[in-house]
Amino acid sequence: MSDFRARLAGQGYYLPERVVTNEELSTRVETSDEWIRARTGIRERRIAAEGETTSDLGFEAAKQALSDARLSADDIDLIIVATTTPDLVFPATAALIQKKLGIRHGAAFDIQAVCSGFIYALAVADGLLKGGVFQRALVIGSETMSRILNWEDRTTCVLFGDGAGAWILDRTESDSGLLGYDLRSEGHYADILKTSGGVSATQSSGFLEMEGPAVFKHAVTKISNSMQRLLERENVDVNDVDWFVPHQANQRILEGVADKLKIDRNRVVSTVAVHGNTSAASVPLAFGQAVSDGRIKRGNLCLLEALGGGLTWGSVLMRY
Ligand code: UT7
Repeated sequence: MSDFRARLAGQGYYLPERVVTNEELSTRVETSDEWIRARTGIRERRIAAEGETTSDLGFEAAKQALSDARLSADDIDLIIVATTTPDLVFPATAALIQKKLGIRHGAAFDIQAVCSGFIYALAVADGLLKGGVFQRALVIGSETMSRILNWEDRTTCVLFGDGAGAWILDRTESDSGLLGYDLRSEGHYADILKTSGGVSATQSSGFLEMEGPAVFKHAVTKISNSMQRLLERENVDVNDVDWFVPHQANQRILEGVADKLKIDRNRVVSTVAVHGNTSAASVPLAFGQAVSDGRIKRGNLCLLEALGGGLTWGSVLMRY
């Protein structure tokens, strides 16, 4: 094992302009601001404009990350995009972003692990950087979940939002960066969170369907177990973690996991109220927000996690 690490050189995020409030949704389906807030913590979400695609959101986030890292697009030799809502079946959204950035070298591909996609993408980038295959990776979580929602299904359409977050990882000899990760999946639970169609099965993308209470139950247990496994493996006490940056699916899940691990709620980054569930974009969006408002600082130890369709889940320990 080399002494090289994937260090977070810069990060950025992008949210579409249009804000959709719970009140607005309650004019479209039988729901209420009170129900949505009480059951999920969500107040509003952003929805991409007509014609605004996942690669557009990812491109904007990538530009922010490059500026934060004081790098130019040509410095990047690997692009990994985690998304469930690609612009097209192919080419990969990563290739489309590579084109938008004007990069003509290196490699670009997508990862599909639904809401856990960014966690998976970090682990893959870490392996490729540590192995010396690439020097600098742009890892993006970008989603237009609004495009696969059934806007007549109140049990799902109130939960999700659109957005993108991007990280630039450097191959460098450093104490900071990705320290470890835990990745899991159990296809046995494929049916409790899925789309009703797909290219090969139905020649259409279908709509998102979820057995909410079943996913909820798995989320709290599986995420807590993953984080505990990771902390034990890395020999880190939970009290030494400065910031817990969870996937933003539901405020009750965030708090359930924090309570199980006895993490002080003041150390939990929560953006679910204003972002909703942005799937693979949710962790870098939450992280980016907490860096922008000065909560997460260089040197802080952060524990990230996510669970999504598959089921897939996992966690990442990193020093910023
Ligand atoms: O990112 C991927 C991972 N996803 C998650 O982690 C999501 C996990 N699940 C959840 O967050 C929660 O299960 C939900 C937020 C989806 C649902 O909350 P819940 O407390 O589990 O509610 P429920 O599904 O048990 O529904 C309770 C009631 C039902 O009515 P009855 O059967 O009690 O009469 C639903 O029909 O609430 C009703 N309901 C609604 N009412 C108003 C469901 N959706 C709505 C709605 N507005 N939007």
